[in-house]
Amino acid sequence: MTKNYPFNFNLKLITELTVDEEEALRVLRVAVYPPEVIAHRPGRHIKWSLPQWRLLVEDGSGWLVSHIGIVIREVTLDDVSICIGGIGGVMTSPKAQGQGFATAAFRHAEAFLNKCGLTFSLLVCRQDLVPFYTRLGWQSFNGILLVEQPGGTVPFTVNEPMVLPVNDKAPKKGTINLCGLPW
Ligand SMILES: CC(C)(COP(=O)(O)OP(=O)(O)OC[C@H]1O[C@@H](n2cnc3c(N)ncnc32)[C@H](O)[C@@H]1OP(=O)(O)O)[C@@H](O)C(=O)NCCC(=O)NCCS
Repeated sequence: MTKNYPFNFNLKLITELTVDEEEALRVLRVAVYPPEVIAHRPGRHIKWSLPQWRLLVEDGSGWLVSHIGIVIREVTLDDVSICIGGIGGVMTSPKAQGQGFATAAFRHAEAFLNKCGLTFSLLVCRQDLVPFYTRLGWQSFNGILLVEQPGGTVPFTVNEPMVLPVNDKAPKKGTINLCGLPW
């Protein structure tokens, strides 16, 4: 189901969030990830990258209901440097889930990434969310994903990597080295 009143999309560099926006984000994060959920998150032992942008989605009454973090990173695909987009920190308040907010946020984020001259975008997600992202046009990446962690470069195996073609095809195999922390 999609909401029929307007969403407000607020795309900002993370350094430009106001105090009120940071607080709304904190409230959203706690609602989506209460301690009992955090305790069992598959990625709880991973050191994650901060995004460069945050897409804040407010409902018609100005309530922050959904968030997407956006990264643009120079990575390598089979040792060749390329610039890709990244999506992380996808969350919708439990009270607003199932109403199309994340879907709308993805469409907005994709339009932004399209303008950034990237080849493809990448996200990692739990196995149960693969069908959701597949419906949004993402494809499973079946190659090797390398990421930085405090101990060095390691294969990322905790979650499912998925890719979205942006201005070119997205790879289905090969080795992608994120050349930094995962998002
Ligand atoms: C996943 C999430 C961001 C979706 O946000 P949303 O605004 O409810 O998304 P939409 O309304 O656009 O789409 C809803 C669809 O998400 C999918 N979905 C949501 N949670 C799911 C889950 N746990 N397992 C499988 N599919 C799920 C379903 O396909 C659902 O469709 P349905 O309502 O017809 O069943 C939201 O459920 C959430 O914040 N979950 C907790 C945090 C999380 O898991 N984030 C994703 C990290 S990769």
